[in-house]
Amino acid sequence: MRKHIVAGNWKMNNDLAMTQSLITELKKQSQTSNAEVMIAPTFTNLWSAFETLKNSKIEVIAQNMHFAESGAYTGEISAEMLKSVGVQTVILGHSERRAYFNETDELLAKKVDTALNNKMRVIFCFGEELVDRKSGNHETIVENQIKKALFHLEADNFKNIVLAYEPVWAIGTGETASPEQAQDMHGFIRKTLAKKYGQETANSVSILYGGSVKPTNAKEIFSKPDVDGGLIGGAALKADDFYAIVNAF
Ligand code: PGA
Repeated sequence: MRKHIVAGNWKMNNDLAMTQSLITELKKQSQTSNAEVMIAPTFTNLWSAFETLKNSKIEVIAQNMHFAESGAYTGEISAEMLKSVGVQTVILGHSERRAYFNETDELLAKKVDTALNNKMRVIFCFGEELVDRKSGNHETIVENQIKKALFHLEADNFKNIVLAYEPVWAIGTGETASPEQAQDMHGFIRKTLAKKYGQETANSVSILYGGSVKPTNAKEIFSKPDVDGGLIGGAALKADDFYAIVNAF
């Protein structure tokens, strides 16, 4: 059976003290969930988050990493560095990385390889912009993103890949894809995977939805058969909201 996952992407929010206090709140609620729960604090707080959450079910994950193993890449973070503070999972390809840091699918393919070579799990993000949705090109855009960044992999690699469909127009805007729009796209993504890797592999990959998921809409979105969880931004910054979303499963 596919895993249900709810991951909180904290983005560039929360200093050390705020990270500790949010984690303390989360820990109070963490024993009751049916989904795998993950949080992605910023790099400087990963170690303390990991230490604080050591005996809890919440996994600490990273928001990004570089494709090189090490070297002259000022300001960047390697897979080895993440692993050395206990991180096993990394978000790659978030639309903010694509938009503000020029991350392309070609570059992301290299990052995915590096993560997998380091035995890490990847949450790979992709999604169309509003113009693509309006012009009816959303499926083609998404198909190309997946093909370019992931289709050089072997079927077996997908054990360590989680997909996150995040329509750019729904991220941080308060506008959510309808549960039907999410299901249509997730179904399409699974079909795309099945064509290349077979139905068994396609059925085994968790596909998360991201974009203005809130306590009020999570249950309906997560009730769709091909939606296996969520990548949560704004609502992950409040313990009560985040857990209301987690408990929507
Ligand atoms: P949002 O962000 O929940 O604030 O829309 C989602 C994301 O960026 O992953």
